[in-house]
Amino acid sequence: MRAMVIDEIGGPEVFAERELAMVEAAVGEVIVRVEAAGVNPIDAKTRGGRGAAHLIREFPAVLGIDFCGTIVQPAFDAHPFHVGDRVYGLVSVPRLSGTYAEFVAVPAVAIARAPRNLGAKESAALPCAALTAWGCINSVGAVQPGQRVLIHAAAGGVGHLAVQLAHLAGAYVVATASERNRDWLGELGADEVIDYRTTRFEEATSDIDLVVDLIGNVHDDTGSRSLTVLRPGGLLISVPTGSWPEYRADAAAAGVRATNIKAISDTATLTAIAELADDGRLRVNLDREFSLRDVAEAHRVLEEGHTRGKLVLHV
Ligand SMILES: NC(=O)c1ccc[n+]([C@@H]2O[C@H](COP(=O)([O-])OP(=O)(O)OC[C@H]3O[C@@H](n4cnc5c(N)ncnc54)[C@H](OP(=O)(O)O)[C@@H]3O)[C@@H](O)[C@H]2O)c1
Repeated sequence: MRAMVIDEIGGPEVFAERELAMVEAAVGEVIVRVEAAGVNPIDAKTRGGRGAAHLIREFPAVLGIDFCGTIVQPAFDAHPFHVGDRVYGLVSVPRLSGTYAEFVAVPAVAIARAPRNLGAKESAALPCAALTAWGCINSVGAVQPGQRVLIHAAAGGVGHLAVQLAHLAGAYVVATASERNRDWLGELGADEVIDYRTTRFEEATSDIDLVVDLIGNVHDDTGSRSLTVLRPGGLLISVPTGSWPEYRADAAAAGVRATNIKAISDTATLTAIAELADDGRLRVNLDREFSLRDVAEAHRVLEEGHTRGKLVLHV
């Protein structure tokens, strides 16, 4: 199978096209012919030696975790997912051969039927970002109508979906983004947009029940400063792994709660996300599309840090 691999840790230039042996399915896995693959920050972090790089067992490694495609080998004959079904989902980072390839093996419990009304690229853009947003808003955050939710990096992949899910849950949504994204985020359901380039968000908002922190302390102590806008007992979800190692202790000292989160794929949640996407209540924005061969360029764009919505690869 054709894949874009990395033979070493490094910059986007380490990607190379390669013919690899066909993936093999473990028990309980299906093999999917990948039509499109999402590009996520974890892919770039891992390629550069951070993220999940320590989990890479051998090179060449195939990165990529999101996919939409068709099943070419089911988990077993009578399994509900058959050959030819269009499915989407998330593979685990990055022990298995990833989705920057023609084929991927993935546990049947980590996939669902792709949204019927979306193309492969839109569907492939959803899994990691939407599962993370779902976890923050609906599972861990358990947002209730009328609650005040602050979402940092609201214009990005996870953020623009979290804004919509929080709005659907009946929350009052405060978003941080740059000015150019203000109107667009308003259309998605943000009640207030704070331009993080000109305004200290802690001077513009308060009494927040839930902070979805998609920045952490890598930029201007966004995580630490977020503790000051939470009401007593409020919850901060620190999404970027490792960006703020002391978040738990800092939150406890401030009298608020904090947790990390991981995108975990399951059929039921992906099905719920597909239903929202199909009836237009959850919209995924594709910022740019690239061919698989141009994955290095996609990573360069991603690492500039100003994607509006998602980047995807056509495989
Ligand atoms: N734990 C998990 O399982 C998990 C899952 C998914 C993602 N993540 C992590 O969560 C983070 C976000 O992921 P993502 O895919 O949403 O990233 P992304 O799409 O690359 O985010 C890009 C967005 O960040 C915004 N931004 C940049 N600096 C900002 C700042 N200081 N304040 C507010 N917004 C800012 C940009 O908005 P402007 O253009 O308006 O500046 C842009 O729209 C990443 O660190 C990722 O690795 C973790």
